[in-house]
Amino acid sequence: MKYTTTASLAATLLAMQASASAMPPPIKRAALSASPVPQPPENPTNRVADDPAAQQLGQALFFDPNLSSTRDVSCATCHDPARAFGDGKAVAEGLQTGTVNTPTILGTAHHRWLFLDGRADTLWSQALGPIENDLEMGGARTDVVRYVASTPHLARAFTEVFGSLPDVSDEARFPEGARPGTPQWDAMTEQDRAAVTRSFVNLGKSIEAYERLLQPGESDFDRWVASIRNEARDDSILGEAAVRGFTLFAGDAGCMRCHFGPMLSDLEFHDLGIPPRDPAAPPMQGRGGGYSKLRASEFRADGPWSDAAESSKARRAAAARIGPEHWGAIRTPTLRNVAHTAPYMHAGQFATLSEVLQFYNTLDGQVRRHSHAEAVLVPLNLSDAQLADLETFVRTLSGDPPADALRHPPEGFGISEP
Ligand code: HEC
Ligand code: HEC
Repeated sequence: MKYTTTASLAATLLAMQASASAMPPPIKRAALSASPVPQPPENPTNRVADDPAAQQLGQALFFDPNLSSTRDVSCATCHDPARAFGDGKAVAEGLQTGTVNTPTILGTAHHRWLFLDGRADTLWSQALGPIENDLEMGGARTDVVRYVASTPHLARAFTEVFGSLPDVSDEARFPEGARPGTPQWDAMTEQDRAAVTRSFVNLGKSIEAYERLLQPGESDFDRWVASIRNEARDDSILGEAAVRGFTLFAGDAGCMRCHFGPMLSDLEFHDLGIPPRDPAAPPMQGRGGGYSKLRASEFRADGPWSDAAESSKARRAAAARIGPEHWGAIRTPTLRNVAHTAPYMHAGQFATLSEVLQFYNTLDGQVRRHSHAEAVLVPLNLSDAQLADLETFVRTLSGDPPADALRHPPEGFGISEP
């Protein structure tokens, strides 16, 4: 058996201290700023955002394929709880094959702008999009409201939260397939259209209440940062390679210019010039096009269906500054749980994290679509060992999944597992 001499013990302690204090202050600050994930910001534009009965109803709707025109696509078809609420596909497949990758919705309540191009400014308005999108669920608000009204469990839950449901049983007054842009919709009275839309919006508000519960779980990275915060930094939580990887991420590799804060996203928009999936398709309009769509949407946070149209959250959209550099810009994705959300980028262009890192390292294949494209990225020229460290770090951002009860249709609504 070996005995540690006092001298060598002192030397070991000194060495430990040196390694603990070796973390440069900016790196330490960066770590502290990225963890823990707080509760989502309040959303006054949805008065039931944190209402437990609305959460239950929203969860039931999320898993219910009957909101789609074919009655076989639900939100959970693409936002699969078993795949970190993504689908593992390059581009989404609903009623038809889409053009963009399905993002995880763990932590989505932290985003200021929803969709890759920011065309929604609240989660409730976001949720209404896929229901009436022909690529996704192909539904119509009149039919969706009629389905809820005629399904006892849903109707009961709905009236408990929102008071009452309109009587939409008369198909002459409320024709099948009626949604804006259809002749059936135009044939309805303005009052009937408003009644249907009000209930439709309330379905979105319930879905938001559920989505606000889908927080990214605590990860090794969070446990490591907690040890730093408690002045008891323990690198064994992360492993030496991931600690080196984080130092690069927050330092020389410059990742935190965009991937910072608790979501590891600035929540804003950039054009990295990722080569398009289909070179023949028209280029993505990104934030430029998304902002025009948001301004035109009746479901804006400062629009007629908001519960707080005058709030600062609501006014943000009107105050946003949009310039030519936003054309083609995509919202920075969260890196939380990114190990579980392959393939990557807005159209699943990269199959693995290592391909993503190779891109940042060389910028090979980068496409400069217009003269305003951002020029912030420069080839990193990292070694293979450094790239491996970076990847090891990024993988420590995976957290525990949400509680089991949130990953299945709620009981008592008669909705079966997808
Ligand atoms: C056919 C697959 C599919 C279905 C069905 C679907 N989604 Fe999505 N979802 C996507 C894709 C793809 C995107 C990204 C679209 C974009 O940004 O243009 C997305 C984006 C989102 C976002 C925004 C995430 C973010 O970070 O901006 C949320 C939230 C979301 N979906 C929730 C829902 C809800 C709620 C439903 C059901 C009402 C639903 N989705 C149905 C594929 C789907
Ligand atoms: C200029 C801002 C910016 C910088 C700097 C940046 N990123 Fe990104 N990152 C983005 C944007 C924007 C996307 C989405 C691009 C797209 O889909 O077209 C993205 C996508 C990713 C993805 C794919 C996520 C997914 O779910 O598809 C990973 C992983 C990633 N970045 C990691 C990194 C790492 C590691 C670094 C540092 C080497 C880095 N990023 C530097 C803005 C940035």
